[in-house]
Amino acid sequence: PATTLDQLVSLCKRRGFVFPSSEIYGGLQGVFDWGPLGVELKNNIIASWWRTNVYERDDMEGLDAAILMNRLTWRYSGHEETFNDPLVDCRDCKSRWRADHIKGRCPNCGSTNLTEPRPFNMMFKTAVGPVADADSFAYLRPETAQGIFVNFGNVLATSSRKLPFGIAQVGKAFRNEINPRNFLFRVREFEQMEIEYFVMPGTEDEWHQRWLEDRLVWWESIGIPRARIRIYDVPPDELAHYSKRTFDLMYHYPTLGYEEVEGIASRTDYDLGSHSRDQETLNLTARANPNRESTARLTYYDPESKRHVVPFVIEPSAGVGRCFLAVLAESYDEQMVKAPPAERISAVSDALEAFLKSVGRSDKLAPETRDALLERGHAILAGMPETMPQIEALLAMPGAEQVELGKKLRGQAQGLVDEHFRTVLHLKSHLAPVRVAVFPLKRNHEGLVAMARDLRRSIQVGSFFRTVYDDTGAIGKLYRRQDEIGTPYCVTVDFQSLGDGTVTVRNRDTMQQIRIPASEVRAYVSNPS
Ligand code: GAP
Repeated sequence: PATTLDQLVSLCKRRGFVFPSSEIYGGLQGVFDWGPLGVELKNNIIASWWRTNVYERDDMEGLDAAILMNRLTWRYSGHEETFNDPLVDCRDCKSRWRADHIKGRCPNCGSTNLTEPRPFNMMFKTAVGPVADADSFAYLRPETAQGIFVNFGNVLATSSRKLPFGIAQVGKAFRNEINPRNFLFRVREFEQMEIEYFVMPGTEDEWHQRWLEDRLVWWESIGIPRARIRIYDVPPDELAHYSKRTFDLMYHYPTLGYEEVEGIASRTDYDLGSHSRDQETLNLTARANPNRESTARLTYYDPESKRHVVPFVIEPSAGVGRCFLAVLAESYDEQMVKAPPAERISAVSDALEAFLKSVGRSDKLAPETRDALLERGHAILAGMPETMPQIEALLAMPGAEQVELGKKLRGQAQGLVDEHFRTVLHLKSHLAPVRVAVFPLKRNHEGLVAMARDLRRSIQVGSFFRTVYDDTGAIGKLYRRQDEIGTPYCVTVDFQSLGDGTVTVRNRDTMQQIRIPASEVRAYVSNPS
């Protein structure tokens, strides 16, 4: 796995997984775009979640509700009143912070002269229609969940479902985070994969446990073993306003440590109750928000007891970006393919040492930036030669470009790293942005090129994964490029192929090659691993 977040930031930038939004205008804080490889990996994660939670179960329906909703949704869900983070101002440098992230000291100027925390509502506001007034006021949804709750009656009526059943949805959510940070981890625009699972009151604890189990099985299926996830049983004083009990799945992110990747909440009858009229007739357990504006009673007619009941809700809710980051971190690996000669290792160590001295002396760097560079740099130095590939991530850190000798260090390290190391993503093949890459042994040989191109097409057509053709370098270099983005199979068309129709298929993880007929490649790479 990755050891620092910088390794992942650097890979994402280098290979085009993720770009800062509107970068040519200086970007927009807490907003990112998915590049050509990022969109593939993200879509594969979502497809895997959907397959497991909708197609492979008998008790689920899908939904895709709109981002804009009637404002009353957010009044009765409780978000207008309670979806707040504690905001403090630094009186000295005028910066603003989320109080629980900063331990009483301004991270910008170090001052402790801070205002008292006050609630800041995180919902983005907009106007629907040409006139901005109270009637046109709307929010961008801060979670997808409410789109499911307000459609409960519609789905129930049109699907003839019996309890228990669930509704799954994937979509954008927006939160005006006070301090977005840590790359994709805390952003202002993100995607959620949410399930609202409706159960008979009294059975919620059992279903809560079952969902916890089911979700862990899915995490394992995308390459995050159980042992790498900690289950945090959220203590009562930290629970959200709707929750009876919540299990947070915490993944051990590089640099960040254990952080929430998914929450599995037991939400009682709070949601359907709060969005219902005539609450006094519903026997609610939760303290629902009194509601005279809803036109519906979101209940289920139980044929056994012949009563209308308000179902209880179990909600597994995961963020796509946090999942993406966990999958990258877990699959990331830097391997020494063959040991570099000692004198070249010491040349790189010397260049790194000189670079760090220059960081220490620099008066252009802010103290925090300098300390971060020094800390990473010394860690790399201590772990040489294994940590040599991390020099690239070091040189991509903020401030590094201002330091003299960076160029020299890059020059010393680059060739050596290319020759002796490889970065590899051990992604499950159903998640890999590219499943198969096809190369001709020589790019200027018409016969090889034609056969490779034809083979690429014949594997691609009718497949639900991406295949690419590449002839932009020597084979060794092409393998490394595919390893770095997690492509499980590289197929090479060589001179023997022209004679007997066979090609080599190289396995990303073992680097072993087998030779099989070109006509069998498609079936071979279609087996998910
Ligand atoms: N409907 C319940 C709900 O929204 P949440 O714990 O606030 O619960 C669920 O969010 C998941 O959404 C989190 O576990 C996390 O993966 C993701 N998430 C929340 N805020 C995020 C942010 N600012 N940036 C990225 N992901 C976020």
